[in-house]
Amino acid sequence: MKRLVLVMGMALFINPAADAATKTLDGQAIFDRNCSVCHTVSPPPKSAPPIAPLASRYRIKFKTKEEGVNHMVAFLKSPNTQNAVESQAIRRFGLMPPSPLSEPELRVVAGWVWDQYNPATGACGGLRNKGRMNQY
Ligand code: HEC
Repeated sequence: MKRLVLVMGMALFINPAADAATKTLDGQAIFDRNCSVCHTVSPPPKSAPPIAPLASRYRIKFKTKEEGVNHMVAFLKSPNTQNAVESQAIRRFGLMPPSPLSEPELRVVAGWVWDQYNPATGACGGLRNKGRMNQY
C-alpha cells in the first residue's frame, strides 16, 4: 500500500498532461486578452504604465528572471503600494485591480512581460531623468 501511494504521488508530481498545459500557454495571447485593455507595450500609455519600461524596472531590481517573475506574480495576485516595483505609477494611474488569472497563467504572462525589456530604451531608460514618469 505504501508503495502504491508513493507511485501515485510520483505520477502526480510528474504529470505530463499538466506540464503540457503549462507549456501551451502563450504569454502574448494572455496579455492581449487580459492586460491590453489597460497596458500598452510601449509608450504612450492607456490607463496603466506601458510594459517595456516596467520590464526594465524589474530587470534593474531583480537579478534573475525567476526572482522577477515570482515578485510580479505576487503583485498581480494582490497589487499594493508595498509590493509595487514602480510605486510612482500608482499615484498617476491608481492601483491595479487583482488579476483573476490562475497561477500558471500568471507565471507565463509575467515571464512574457519580463521578456519585453527593450534594449533600445535600455536598462537606464527609466532612470535617465528624475521625472521619469513623464516618459509614459
Ligand atoms: C484594469 C486595468 C489593468 C489591467 C486589466 C491590468 N493592469 Fe497591470 N497595472 C494597472 C495599473 C493602473 C498599474 C499601475 C499602478 C500599480 O502598480 O498598481 C499596473 C501595474 C502593473 C505592473 C507593475 C507592477 C509593479 O511592480 O510596479 C505590472 C508588471 C502589470 N501591471 C502587469 C499586468 C499584467 C501582466 C496584466 C494582465 C494579466 C495586467 N497588468 C492587467 C492596470 C491594469
